[in-house]
Amino acid sequence: MRIQVVDHPLVSHKLTTLRDENTDSPTFRRLADELVTLLAYEATRGVRVREVEIKTPVAPATGVKLETPTPLVVPILRAGLGMLDGMVRLLPTAEVGFLGMVRDEETLEVSTYADRLPKDLSGRQVYVVDPMLATGATLAQAIRFLVERGANDITAITLLAAPEGIAVLENEMADLEVPVTLVTAAVDEKLNEKGYIVPGLGDAGDRLYGVA
Ligand code: URA
Repeated sequence: MRIQVVDHPLVSHKLTTLRDENTDSPTFRRLADELVTLLAYEATRGVRVREVEIKTPVAPATGVKLETPTPLVVPILRAGLGMLDGMVRLLPTAEVGFLGMVRDEETLEVSTYADRLPKDLSGRQVYVVDPMLATGATLAQAIRFLVERGANDITAITLLAAPEGIAVLENEMADLEVPVTLVTAAVDEKLNEKGYIVPGLGDAGDRLYGVA
């Protein structure tokens, strides 16, 4: 798995305000959206394009357009929804699929409660978005799900990642033939005993939407 931490002063600046417990929900949403746009810019460096011929008002020119089928953007419900607008702002022609995943706090098993994805993802480039890579269980399951459907190039975009979650993801992805990239704004110190990223930003879903 390739890991890209987007090291940019604007990313760090926005992330600092996002982390601050005094940042209210509307500001949190706006900042998350702005951050995603910056992360998406880096994450889409490898987006597939095809060459096209056009004419400028001055002369013929060769350029590129996004290849079709266009990439699929997959927010993991609920918190991943807060990253969707930022993604489709940069990829307005992208298709969007939804995955709802929940972890049983007792058994720690992840189950899928919503699957609104194309049945066949053969050869597709997929961007899966979830703000927090904590234990890694949800993202690992989501990526496996996408690979089983045929996706052959997967980029996961998170706002924050914990080293423990990255280790789980690397381990889980080791046997996959499909290239997987993780793009994140920062790798934090650790997970605490409740599974929160430290220092982190708290519960991303609650901070985005204000309810548990
Ligand atoms: N999910 C969150 O929203 N926050 C964390 O710190 C960990 C998982």
